[in-house]
Amino acid sequence: MWDDVKALDTSAKIVDLFAADPDRAEDFSATALEMLFDYSKTGIDGASRRALLALAQNAGVEAKRDAMFAGEVINETEGRAVLHTALRNLDGDPVLVEGFDVMPEVLATLDRMERFAEELRSGAFQGQGGKITDVVNIGIGGSDLGPAMATLALAPYHDGPRVHYVSNVDGAHIADTLRGLDPAKTLVIVASKTFTTIETMTNARTAMAWMSEAVTEPAAQFAALSTSEEKTAAMGIPASRVFGFEDWVGGRYSLWGPIGLGIMIAVGGPAFRAFLRGAQAMDRHFCAAELGENLPVMLALVGIWHNQICGHTTRAVLPYDQRLSRLPAYLQQLEMESNGKSVRMDGSDSPVHTGPVVWGEPGTNGQHAFYQLIHQGSRVVPCEFLLAAIGHEPDLAHQHDLLAANCLAQSEALMKGRSLAEARALMAAKGLSGDELERQARHRVFAGNRPSTVLLYPKLTPEILGQIIALYEHRVFVEGVILGINSFDQWGVELGKELATALQPIVEGRESAAGKDSSTRGLVHYIRTRAGG
Ligand code: F6P
Repeated sequence: MWDDVKALDTSAKIVDLFAADPDRAEDFSATALEMLFDYSKTGIDGASRRALLALAQNAGVEAKRDAMFAGEVINETEGRAVLHTALRNLDGDPVLVEGFDVMPEVLATLDRMERFAEELRSGAFQGQGGKITDVVNIGIGGSDLGPAMATLALAPYHDGPRVHYVSNVDGAHIADTLRGLDPAKTLVIVASKTFTTIETMTNARTAMAWMSEAVTEPAAQFAALSTSEEKTAAMGIPASRVFGFEDWVGGRYSLWGPIGLGIMIAVGGPAFRAFLRGAQAMDRHFCAAELGENLPVMLALVGIWHNQICGHTTRAVLPYDQRLSRLPAYLQQLEMESNGKSVRMDGSDSPVHTGPVVWGEPGTNGQHAFYQLIHQGSRVVPCEFLLAAIGHEPDLAHQHDLLAANCLAQSEALMKGRSLAEARALMAAKGLSGDELERQARHRVFAGNRPSTVLLYPKLTPEILGQIIALYEHRVFVEGVILGINSFDQWGVELGKELATALQPIVEGRESAAGKDSSTRGLVHYIRTRAGG
């Protein structure tokens, strides 16, 4: 399956592609739901696009997509359906899991969440010291990154209590978050799909102790988001404040349901529903559009082109949108936990590299930090820019224009670069000549031909945010199908967890490190001698 695409010619220069076809941008871009995805500044030409689309077709992307939406057990290593899309199926069309329609329960839970969020926002639900002013969401991974990212992204819509997110088991995180909060006016949400994650359970106990010092009924100011009612009950949290979901919602795909409660508390039910509506619109587009016009499919194929075919193993995500500053971290989990595998669904080794290393920071900050390497470093980093046409601050529109100019300029500079002749002319204009001109000019050359894409959207509203996140979810799915891997398990996180459990008593000094390797023994010794053990 890979032979045809591996044989593709990747040597075309992007500027030459534009010279041969001045209207290239029109052909090598896709629009959907008011979004524009421009991939013309990559080395993909007509022939490579045809081959990439054939790759997607041969991998059975459409059939697998339909199987996912139909509730088939596509997460084969965990024996589960994959139905985060049901959480945003606002019209309630039946979605069957083992013959049972899950939609009535999904929509009832959404209504319960909305009622609870409204009670908090209006003050109908009171803490033991009055109206709730602050909400602390304790969770990690998918129970943190998605809701934290989306809450920040929707800052202009915040009109509820302040929502804080604590994830790290490092006590510094919860200590810094709780400092200054009034426990009697704080609601703690314990967000954990499994309700066993050690970081979350440890932080939850710390929060419970903090609350106990100030109020007589600490559990009365706790809520839980989980698939395990038994475990939430054991923490003393009454069923009325437990919002459940099923195991067919993967952790990193869970912000659309109860795990998104923090978002809903911050922005209110109607805005949260608009967020779901945006994602649902992207689902419909994904299911209906031809592969070549299909935004998630084209994003995935550009990813495959850069990673598996051109051999660029990292991908920079660069939102020119300060409120999307947590998007790269969120995408790191979404993409790297989903597609960071080496074994295919059938148990065989993948013949190609799988998911890329994803990283990034918002522009323009990154320009003053790591873009140097992207422009002149010795390796090629495909860049994915994101930009809104307009910002939320009309009185600062001139700043948004500057932001947009920077984003487009970076994409252009990466493609065009600067030749030695141009660099020489620059140095000559500065009065240099001879060897010194040559030496200085070399440092000012930009190779160019560095690929980038731009995703434009009108404005970062709840609806558009829903579209963007669903777009990336489906992109990861399509890449996973083409790679033949299971994007929905995460066995690679287990070994570290097991070893941490075994190491805890050793680090605490309760057990000997004797059986450990000399590196681990030396590191434990350093910690113990300084921790007073
Ligand atoms: O350890 C990885 C992981 O299982 C993620 O997949 C998940 O999002 C995160 O931990 C948190 O899990 P939970 O929501 O069950 O606490």
